[in-house]
Amino acid sequence: MPKFIIEGGHPLSGTINVGGAKNAALKIIPASLLSEQTITIKNLPKIEDIDRSLEIIADLGGQITTTADGCTINTKEITKNIISSDLANKLRASIMFVGPLLARTGTASFPHPGGCVIGAGTRPIDLFLEGFKAMGAKIEWRDHVYHLIAKKLKACEYFFTTVSVTGTESLMMTAVLAEGTSILKNCALEPEIVALAEYLNTQGARISGAGTPTIIIKGVKAIAGGEFTVMPDRIEAGTFAIVAAATNSPITINNFRAEHLESLLAVLTKVGVKFESTDNSLKIISADNLKAYGLKTHEYPGFPTDLQSPYTVLMTQAQGASLIHETIYDRRLLFTDMLTQMGANIIMCDPHRVVVSGPTPLTGHKLTSPDLRAGISMVIAGLIAEGRTEIDNIYQIDRGYENIDERLRQLGAKITRIE
Ligand code: EPU
Repeated sequence: MPKFIIEGGHPLSGTINVGGAKNAALKIIPASLLSEQTITIKNLPKIEDIDRSLEIIADLGGQITTTADGCTINTKEITKNIISSDLANKLRASIMFVGPLLARTGTASFPHPGGCVIGAGTRPIDLFLEGFKAMGAKIEWRDHVYHLIAKKLKACEYFFTTVSVTGTESLMMTAVLAEGTSILKNCALEPEIVALAEYLNTQGARISGAGTPTIIIKGVKAIAGGEFTVMPDRIEAGTFAIVAAATNSPITINNFRAEHLESLLAVLTKVGVKFESTDNSLKIISADNLKAYGLKTHEYPGFPTDLQSPYTVLMTQAQGASLIHETIYDRRLLFTDMLTQMGANIIMCDPHRVVVSGPTPLTGHKLTSPDLRAGISMVIAGLIAEGRTEIDNIYQIDRGYENIDERLRQLGAKITRIE
């Protein structure tokens, strides 16, 4: 199994460019099922999750052509209405295909989706199922597969009792082709949702309110194809800012949209990181004498759960104690056990809270990446640590960060991929 070897303790410097957003691209690919016409996707990141997502489209009968910075997809002919369990097992976002497939063909079958193990058991999909049911779908669970049938989807009024990003996007997409006006309440507010709605509207959908808690969708009979440029990945951008801060390195991050990362920038200011931000870049100037600052993860625009693990590593280098409260997922702090093996002083209060006391020097260690964001956090810890760190199971990191070793090497990191 491929692994990373990192020789830590080397200063970094230079410029790094943020790639296209995984969590935007993972929604536009299934959205291609809503139209019989061709969609062109630009600035598509070259990561494992996108490859899996395109494999699902191909498996359903869609035609994909690779272009210089993305691909075109045409799903005029859909030859299958089941998401294969091999693919669904690897990717939580496989659930995103269900609504559009149901809306286009009237049926969709799928196993429970897999993906990062960051929530108890298998991450739930109850909100999706309730939403599809509210739109008139009949749901059966047979032979470990959900079978959905809806001859004609009807509009619904649905309140999300838990704020869900993919839940919001999924019901929003499904409602585009449903008969009547749907009202979704207590929706997630992420910028990727706004981008998806804007694209669908330019192709004939009638969605208003994306980016607010209430989204209204007036159903239409069909939408056209078009062109979608994937926005820069705000989590990758935030990860790079934390890499720079944790290693106290002057690094400029291009394609950094400060308006998408206000929570991170507010926190970095509090911990004493000096930076300059322009319209499209962030320059980390220095991160001397960091001060501990505790936080709670929160739905957008609060501090993203996806940056909690990198931030926890940063706090090992800050003076004082910080309480990190992970409110969204109950397994996302388990990786801190590996940081303690490297010398960090971290006490777990319960699955949702740890106290990090610092600063502590870290020493290289042999680690296994349990999920995407914990994996990149181990890379950051390895860059800080004295000596050699070995990280196994890096497929998890490749799922969301394109060619990360090469890009970090360009900043001076001593990181090697062993195939
Ligand atoms: N939830 C339910 N029932 C559902 C769906 C979700 O109880 O039917 C709960 C979850 O268990 C969780 C909470 O709702 O406790 C919020 O989860 P959400 O549904 O918002 O997460 P998601 O949509 O599955 C997306 C991102 C995640 C990111 C979260 C939160 C994609 C493909 N994934 O997941 O990204 O952590 O929103 O911002 O958009 C990552 O990129 O590493 C990643 C995990």
